[in-house]
Amino acid sequence: MIMDFITSQLAVGSREDAENSAALAGYGIDTVLSLVPLARPAAVVRQLSLALPDRVALPGALIDEAVDFLLDQTARGRRVLVHCEMGISRSPSIAAAYLHLAQGVDLYEALCLVRAARPIIEPNPTLIASLLTHFGTHDEPADLSGNENPLGPSPLAVAAIHRLTRQLQRYPDKDGSALRSRLGQFCAVAPSQIVLGNGASELIDLAARALLQPGDEMLLPVPAFPSYRAAALRARATLVTVSMPGGNCDVDALIARITPMTRLVVVVTPHNPCGTVLARANLQRLLAALPKQACLLLDEAYREFVDADELPDLSSLFSGEQRLFIIRSMSKAYGLAGLRIGYGIATPTLAAQLDALRQPFNTSSLAQAAALAALDDNEFLARSIAHNAAGRSYLERGLSTLGIEFTPSQANFVLFQIGPQGVEALAARGVLVKCMARFGLPGFARVSIGRTTDNTRFLAALAEIQASAMAKIANPAYA
Ligand SMILES: Cc1ncc(COP(=O)(O)O)c(C=O)c1O
Repeated sequence: MIMDFITSQLAVGSREDAENSAALAGYGIDTVLSLVPLARPAAVVRQLSLALPDRVALPGALIDEAVDFLLDQTARGRRVLVHCEMGISRSPSIAAAYLHLAQGVDLYEALCLVRAARPIIEPNPTLIASLLTHFGTHDEPADLSGNENPLGPSPLAVAAIHRLTRQLQRYPDKDGSALRSRLGQFCAVAPSQIVLGNGASELIDLAARALLQPGDEMLLPVPAFPSYRAAALRARATLVTVSMPGGNCDVDALIARITPMTRLVVVVTPHNPCGTVLARANLQRLLAALPKQACLLLDEAYREFVDADELPDLSSLFSGEQRLFIIRSMSKAYGLAGLRIGYGIATPTLAAQLDALRQPFNTSSLAQAAALAALDDNEFLARSIAHNAAGRSYLERGLSTLGIEFTPSQANFVLFQIGPQGVEALAARGVLVKCMARFGLPGFARVSIGRTTDNTRFLAALAEIQASAMAKIANPAYA
């Protein structure tokens, strides 16, 4: 029998708990609130049972009645059990509304506090949306558009930056020797195989400049991260696009489009914006089919978020004379997007060719020092990955609950169907997501995994938009 206390006077418990007199007495609970009719055990002095179907919007009058009951009973010094049938429930939403009013915390924070006390609770987006409407909250926008790290930067990286501020009169090490050496060790390759970039973005540009002549072909699965199209344009290369059925990279279609003019084949895994990964066997197949004159650019900007057994094995990829350029970013899992630091891995010959094209001081001393420190910050990396995995499954479950189509993701974002004006409707509710029209996917949006409160807010805003669309359909004035 476990009753989880959210405050010293408010607990959440199952039906079994709420009907068990001995257990209630044991916890000093004499008051019960439920949104289904329950039997009243002897230990209960006051009980409010309201009848309301699950997962439907909470009427304002019911919220007021239930929250007033909780405020009144706790003010009298009573200990109250809020009955919670299963994971998705109405009563925990009421408990959050109570915390919001009794303790002044914002509603998202309150929902997180309730969930922290009883992790099985899944705040239902429709219920949350009705609380938001009822209390008319206006908060700072939740920016879920940039695939940034919601936990901030690696603290070790921040400390390294502080230490270096007294040395800012000095130029950076133009070769980034210490960082390349550490990255070589980290990736189990020679430092001469590492190329540093002003973000992975610069490495995309270097690859296009080094490997593409006007008229050469670049193969690109679409939808695609826009920098690839721009880099091909700047190199005056011919862009050959290949569609991604179901959001997956179609290796057979890529191989079929290879011609004697193909110089660069781009594969992004996990893919932005689809979030899908290319299976190892398919990657090997693509490498084997690549002609001598072509290079495979494997973009792993989101690599750290992938389940470990899906990751390609670097040593097998670099065996033989394959032309392969892997690019990685420290903007995402390490939280260093503002510093601009990324790295590439290639054979020593290709690495030297790419390195010759970059500016001498392309990465700053702060970026190099922060990256070095972040690579040692295993605790932060593990926390970022775990937070992302939990947030990602929470968002995916929420999207399923709302009946919204999405592509299951291995990255720090989820691609979902939103329909016309959906991005604007979310923005009007203070939630910013990335419109996918520029990626070639009108009607879709990409939401980044954010702080827990922001993820909750995103789902609530979607539920609110759905509810108002349904209301318009039902209203003859809109017919
Ligand atoms: C697929 C992909 N590649 C590369 C990059 C560039 O990352 P960076 O911030 O290191 O320049 C991004 C950034 O969002 C990305 O999504």
